[in-house]
Amino acid sequence: MSDEKIDRMIRSSSVDDISSSVDLDSAYGPSGFRGLLKSSNILFYSLFASLGGFLFGYDQGVISGVLVMHDFEARFPRVGGNGDLQGWVVSIMQLGAFVGALINSPLADRLSRRYSIAVACVAFLIGSVLQAAAVDNSMLFIGRFIGGIGLGQISMGVPLWIGEVAPPNLRGSAVTLQQFAIASGIMISFWLDYGTQYIGGIGEGQSQAAWRLPFALRVVPALTLLTGCFFVLPFSPRWLVKVGREHEALTVLSRLRKMPENHPIVQAEIMQIKAGARFDALTIKEKFPNAKTPAQIAYQQYKELVTQKHLSRRLFVACFMQFLQQFTGVNAIIYYAPKMFKSIGLSGNSVSLLATGVVGIINVVATIPAIGIVDNFGRRVVLMVGALFMSLSHFIIATLYAIYEHSWADHLSAGWAAAAFVWFFVFNFAYSVGCIAWIYPTEIFPLGVRAQAMGIAISVNWISNFVIGLITPIMLSHFKFGTFYFFFAFTMILFCWVLMFLPETKGVPMEEMDRLWGGNEGKETADRMDRIQQELRCESRNVPIYSKTGSYSDDLDIELQD
Ligand code: BGC
Repeated sequence: MSDEKIDRMIRSSSVDDISSSVDLDSAYGPSGFRGLLKSSNILFYSLFASLGGFLFGYDQGVISGVLVMHDFEARFPRVGGNGDLQGWVVSIMQLGAFVGALINSPLADRLSRRYSIAVACVAFLIGSVLQAAAVDNSMLFIGRFIGGIGLGQISMGVPLWIGEVAPPNLRGSAVTLQQFAIASGIMISFWLDYGTQYIGGIGEGQSQAAWRLPFALRVVPALTLLTGCFFVLPFSPRWLVKVGREHEALTVLSRLRKMPENHPIVQAEIMQIKAGARFDALTIKEKFPNAKTPAQIAYQQYKELVTQKHLSRRLFVACFMQFLQQFTGVNAIIYYAPKMFKSIGLSGNSVSLLATGVVGIINVVATIPAIGIVDNFGRRVVLMVGALFMSLSHFIIATLYAIYEHSWADHLSAGWAAAAFVWFFVFNFAYSVGCIAWIYPTEIFPLGVRAQAMGIAISVNWISNFVIGLITPIMLSHFKFGTFYFFFAFTMILFCWVLMFLPETKGVPMEEMDRLWGGNEGKETADRMDRIQQELRCESRNVPIYSKTGSYSDDLDIELQD
């Protein structure tokens, strides 16, 4: 967008002009890696907040190694090894996370996005300490449940925060950093377990530090993130506007964009945010005049989410994407890779290493290109390519499995081919739905219901994760190769659904998402928007104009110098 156009935008008497004339390429700068490097503060803040994603991945990954450690098995016979409670010690964390994602919505609205992450870190820390110090099953279970609550909150709060501070051209890449952190957490916890199991030896003499240490080390990133919530991460400017702290919002936004407060781009963006927030607040006020307390308002917002067609469509999309992300079978592979690799005939000491270790490395490495492509090529194409290759992988694995089920030992190369397609699957998951499932819910909802909607969507992720953990071992033993055809079906559904129904959100400012979902049409809403525009127009009369020479003028009508 030319400077002249930006100037016109901010001086314009119509807020509509502001929202409709944003040409992001030149206004905000490039997307992808180049954009992130240029906006070093967005890169820094997103990476810092992504410590939450690291905790998420680490927590998911750490338990599998711990469960098979000798000292752990000896102390918790019902949980370690083949104990009857093993499945539950894994899944109780996911149930906690399901609850955590839901309860974070009111916290993120009342306390702020950043402080809700701080509360999450406290829950996570309590859970980690209980697990690291566990002396009996109940301590272990309670620790995993409380830690899970923190994790669920983090998995909702961090992408919500990142999505709200990033400019539209970097939103996808910035949220992708959290997926990169999740994958790194999974990988690092695996190698850490692998290393610490040697403390005292892997047999009889194994020290309890072998498993207590990986549990305990989580407190380091959790404490760092907790401290950062107070001293590093700023408030989300959108949340500040939502709670009426508009001046602060402007200051934060100008810091985030590294531009003066009265720079046209900052002014245009704050106008957009204000217009969106006031519109949401006014809608609730006019539609539900009796809703006075925060609880009553929240109730109406949840109700709107399911009764308003354009909102329920978005809610469905966000939830279905979370569901499909899990039903691609990624966690079936992450949790049960060693078992799968064994069942396709690859045995020996290096199996576990190859299975989990290589899967983990590919998962991290393949997330990196996503940072560069989601805001350039768009969400749809990346999702479709990923879904297509994931389904191809499942199909080939299932077919090889069906053919060689009883003769893997004589067809070692078929086993390796199947393994290669497991890796290929993970590769394609990592850059596509692995990342994009987190981006979508952060960006498609209006501010008024964003936290509520995200809570619901992310809780669907966790409950689906829980179901996958439960059904995969049963499917692997009963349906064998059918398990992969099952996941093949879901990856194909993902492909077709994206192809036919999913709108592209790349580069669309959050406040303009209504365009894609057919929301807020009709006379009543147009009138409401008109009133807000009037209000903002009056306020913007006092906005001093920024000129390229560096001088500022209070007079909106003066010509800008070139
Ligand atoms: C999923 C997790 C999964 C991870 C693998 C995330 O996006 O939500 O369930 O374990 O990706 O990297």
